[in-house]
Amino acid sequence: MKGLILSGGKGTRLRPITHTSAKQLVPVANKPVLFYGIEAMVQAAITEIGIIIAPETGGEIREAVGDGSRFGAQITYVEQDEPLGLAHAALTAEAFLDGDSFVMYLGDNLLQGGITELVEAFESSAPDALILLTPVPDPQNFGVAELADGRVVRLVEKPAEPATDLALVGVYMFTAGIHDASRAIEPSPRGELEITDAIQHLVDGGLRVEPHIVRGWWKDTGRLDDMLEANRLVLDRVDRRIEGELVDSQCEGRVVIEAGAVLERTTVRGPAVIGAGARLTDCYVGPYTAIGEDCVICEAEVEHSILLSGCTVSKLEGRMESSLLGHNVTISRGTRQPRAYRFMIGDNSEIGIL
Ligand code: DAU
Repeated sequence: MKGLILSGGKGTRLRPITHTSAKQLVPVANKPVLFYGIEAMVQAAITEIGIIIAPETGGEIREAVGDGSRFGAQITYVEQDEPLGLAHAALTAEAFLDGDSFVMYLGDNLLQGGITELVEAFESSAPDALILLTPVPDPQNFGVAELADGRVVRLVEKPAEPATDLALVGVYMFTAGIHDASRAIEPSPRGELEITDAIQHLVDGGLRVEPHIVRGWWKDTGRLDDMLEANRLVLDRVDRRIEGELVDSQCEGRVVIEAGAVLERTTVRGPAVIGAGARLTDCYVGPYTAIGEDCVICEAEVEHSILLSGCTVSKLEGRMESSLLGHNVTISRGTRQPRAYRFMIGDNSEIGIL
């Protein structure tokens, strides 16, 4: 069995972070989302993995993942010229997949508990496809499934009026038959060849599509709130490990301080991770915070936030919370009068003064 991870697409919902960076590389608990998918596959003994990349962000993904040897995998990159849909992405990888069954994993999805059990279920019951479903409060934002007697009868992509609350999770298992199904369908109103329609085509042709309800949590990290929530869920399970230097500082609970980080007169209340080379002076870091490598924070309070590498945050009067800062962002307060806000902010940014 092979693996196919979809890491192309546009990432419009996470702008401005994704103006300069692939959305699949935004870190959750200081590790790119994409790496969780690769690790889940390797854990399930799937080591021949293709990664779909887009021309704009492919270089960055190749650089981050490399040949896969550090994960114990062999990675083949498959370039998709345009993001024409998930079924189009699967078709683009047809030569790599070469008639084998495969797990398709959306590169911005996170699934607790991995995929090992699901791969075993797929191999033992040998359906034509296996899909994962989970109840969500906002099914209109996902592919939605209708079941009858435990069988999949209808799948609709982002319906305005969902018939159920069962969303399609971004992990699918297919036999090679999905390629013919993908060739048989037409682009959807949003102009994409939808995998949802390709699976419906299998159902309509009398083929066996097995549904599995996800038991643990699942997150599509495409939006800010989901990203923060994913960060919270992953941090909740980190094991305490303090390798950096603490000077007059305390770390409470599940806290990771990477080697080379230095904390002075700082309190970190876990769950939280502080990246290598970070310098925190006279700060408070609250629960569910991931501070990237080489960040500098001084005289500030940060909680429930993700800071990518190289950020500087200093002398804030209020606590920064529920925030996502891209690489090398600087937020600081000066001492000059009159007091004012001074910004240099990229397109599609969002500032909240609460
Ligand atoms: O997250 C689960 C949902 O994912 C499902 O419920 C939907 O049925 C499914 O269509 C998909 O919906 P999204 O609109 O969230 O998909 P998105 O465009 O975000 O793409 C998912 C991943 O696939 C993302 O990592 C980008 C990548 N991708 C996307 C497209 C459209 C590609 O590699 N190529 C593409 O052509």
